[in-house]
Amino acid sequence: ETDGGIVSSVGDLVVVSNRQPYTHSYEATDDGREITVSRPAGGLTAGLDPVMQETDGTWIAWGDGEADADVTDENDEVRMPPESEAYTLRRLWLTDEEVEGYYYGYSNRVLWPLCHGGTMKAEYVERYWQRYQQVNRTFADATIEAASEDSLVWFQDYHFTLAPRQVREAVPDSTFLMHFWHITWPGWDTFRSCPNQEALLKGLLGNDLLGFHVERYCKNFLDCVDEALEDAFIDYDGNRVNYDGHTTTVRAFPMGIDADSIREHSESADEAFWSEFKTDHGIEPDTRVVVGVDRLDYTKGIVERLDAFERLLETRPEWREEVCYVQKANESRSLIPDYQDLQTEVQESIERINERFGTDDWQPVVYINEFIAQDELCGLYRYSDVMLVSAVRDGMNLVSKEYVAAQVDDDGVLVLSDQAGAYEELGEWALTINPYDTDAFAETIETALTMDPDDRGDRMAALREQVGSQDLFAWMDDIFATADELREKKVANDG
Ligand code: F6P
Repeated sequence: ETDGGIVSSVGDLVVVSNRQPYTHSYEATDDGREITVSRPAGGLTAGLDPVMQETDGTWIAWGDGEADADVTDENDEVRMPPESEAYTLRRLWLTDEEVEGYYYGYSNRVLWPLCHGGTMKAEYVERYWQRYQQVNRTFADATIEAASEDSLVWFQDYHFTLAPRQVREAVPDSTFLMHFWHITWPGWDTFRSCPNQEALLKGLLGNDLLGFHVERYCKNFLDCVDEALEDAFIDYDGNRVNYDGHTTTVRAFPMGIDADSIREHSESADEAFWSEFKTDHGIEPDTRVVVGVDRLDYTKGIVERLDAFERLLETRPEWREEVCYVQKANESRSLIPDYQDLQTEVQESIERINERFGTDDWQPVVYINEFIAQDELCGLYRYSDVMLVSAVRDGMNLVSKEYVAAQVDDDGVLVLSDQAGAYEELGEWALTINPYDTDAFAETIETALTMDPDDRGDRMAALREQVGSQDLFAWMDDIFATADELREKKVANDG
């Protein structure tokens, strides 16, 4: 667990994120309706929640639940979690125009594709940029209000590149600002296409500490600063940038998952669950299962993966009726045309494969897009023979780590794209693929399905050790310890 000592020594915590940790909605009851709260299934929110409770901090986020306003007080605040009311959730209400420009627009039609190397997909619409600036200002103002001289402010992700500088200019020097960038940071040759490059970099350089998943993204960031900001001084050895009299330390912190929780959920899924799951989805008891679990995003390489599975069935007919590919998909950002196109493309690929190879007793691809509970998801991970992670570009890919953590019997095989950040940590024991190399990818699926049990067990045990030791709590401890160290140095230098 996170070391409370480290956290309390950096003062109260102010977290700034686009998504909120809890949302409220209405549920119909016999006497009308009541308000219910949805809790996060896992990930960062669940991990940060105990830290927030310990420091009585403030979490600032976009209020987008249908009943959020009804439980929030006149200061737009609500105490969370409901049973202990240990910290403040400050909700910011955004207009439809702001959501369109800031979230769907600049965040997800400019920064998202740009950072994932999709320069041709980035749409530089002035309205998006204006609203992104406006919303960053709103979040910065709320942060300034919530932060004190000994606060630790933690910005999350690409929604807030401008706010750190705005906050830096308004709070005391002793308020520590840090930021974790959850996606890739591209090389200069990609980033230089962005017309707002200077503002984005200057904004992020308002932070004292800036974290990325892997070293390469840190290096890319420093290169971009070097090229775009003439007055910045870069210390490549110390991973520091000095700009406008302020120093930002840039470090890699590979994010982990709550491996114990995934393991427990996985252990609770017994053989009966799996036979029922197979029956429910029309999968014969002896059929081998290959799985993919993704948010429906064009960076995840889902179509490329389906192509590889199709190639396997085409070139190695002996696998027909022997193996089934299960795709669990979570719809995402569906108002954006590129995401709608992807949904159609995935559906069409699946229909094509099923029509081409399916028989009365066997459907090659099973598609699940409805919600499944954490126990069920972890059971699906546990009993699937192979997991395919074929991102064409991905900051980390936590799903690959979840699959590993769920392998309590040490008998699954992870096939992992060398384009995912997770590859840096897991690549040694996973089977490597290039998602664009369809023939080699198809062969690797076969290698995974036929791997010798000893080899499989050794690889998975090593993967589990890696994922279990570098988990979410180790990640947070590392970040907080680094913040603490930098803060002490800052105080010593100022004194
Ligand atoms: O991977 C980046 C990220 O922002 C994650 O932190 C988050 O889980 C995911 O994208 C979901 O995106 P959205 O909030 O747009 O649904």
